[in-house]
Amino acid sequence: MDRRIPDTATVEAAVALALRAPSAGNAQPWSWRIGYSTLHLFADVDRPASEPDLGERDVLLGCGAALHHVRVAFAALGWDAEVRRLPDPGDPAHLAVVTPHPAGRPTAGTTALAAAIPRRRTDRRPPAAWPVPREHLDALARAAAREDTRLDVVTEAVREGISGRRPGALGTGGEVLVLATATDDRMALLRAGEATSAVLLSATALGLASCPLPASRDALETFAGATPAHPQVLLRVGWAPPGSEPLPPTPRRRLGHVLEPLPAPPKYHHRLVTT
Ligand SMILES: Cc1cc2nc3c(=O)[nH]c(=O)nc-3n(C[C@H](O)[C@H](O)[C@H](O)COP(=O)(O)O)c2cc1C
Repeated sequence: MDRRIPDTATVEAAVALALRAPSAGNAQPWSWRIGYSTLHLFADVDRPASEPDLGERDVLLGCGAALHHVRVAFAALGWDAEVRRLPDPGDPAHLAVVTPHPAGRPTAGTTALAAAIPRRRTDRRPPAAWPVPREHLDALARAAAREDTRLDVVTEAVREGISGRRPGALGTGGEVLVLATATDDRMALLRAGEATSAVLLSATALGLASCPLPASRDALETFAGATPAHPQVLLRVGWAPPGSEPLPPTPRRRLGHVLEPLPAPPKYHHRLVTT
């Protein structure tokens, strides 16, 4: 057994956890392919006509969230995930190549983040009035920064201004966070998706309820004053009201539907035929 690469059961366990990633409309716009020593993330563009057609930004954000989930899962299983993003300029659907390397025992923080994956829910209920501690918000900002993404807490004044122009857009209670990137391209959206996952899992590990908020281009423009960077994602975090029931998990596609072997490149087909 080659101990430098994870066995199939480990890769399947990591991808199974990554299936729990959030995505707009729960579209799950990803597919995974296993190579010999690599795992490949693709945007799932061949979707059945019965399923909603996501725009490219929601595909990249959702796939970014799945990519961060798989990184956390590998780390908790004892593997460092080296990631090459947008590896093939000729194939825009090929979003990342993940190469796991053996790592030491996971840290307590990594294990806590992985344990948050099955517990995280999009909680659309209004949060309790209790404030979110500054230290928690700082921890969420650090989690986003590690993904090259800036997190700003929307101030009360900006929030009131936006609610005046877009009534009900931000709901009440909790804190509204805007995730923003230095550039506004496909790489930035993928990274913003990874940051979304990092912030949501960190919030869950801290005991906070969380919810992505609708973020059309139009809605994001109203946040231009809340951050010096390009706003990409809006999140609300807060405390679930005391006594509120836990939310059931939303369904996901089966592992067998989203994980398949990477087809060997043509030169290897040739070798197989001639030897
Ligand atoms: C990029 C992105 C955009 C989203 N937009 C919204 C939204 O506008 N409104 C909403 O209620 N939920 C939104 N969600 C949350 C999804 O609906 C949710 O992740 C999905 O239904 C799966 O449920 P779960 O997060 O509880 O696992 C969004 C999630 C992502 C990643």
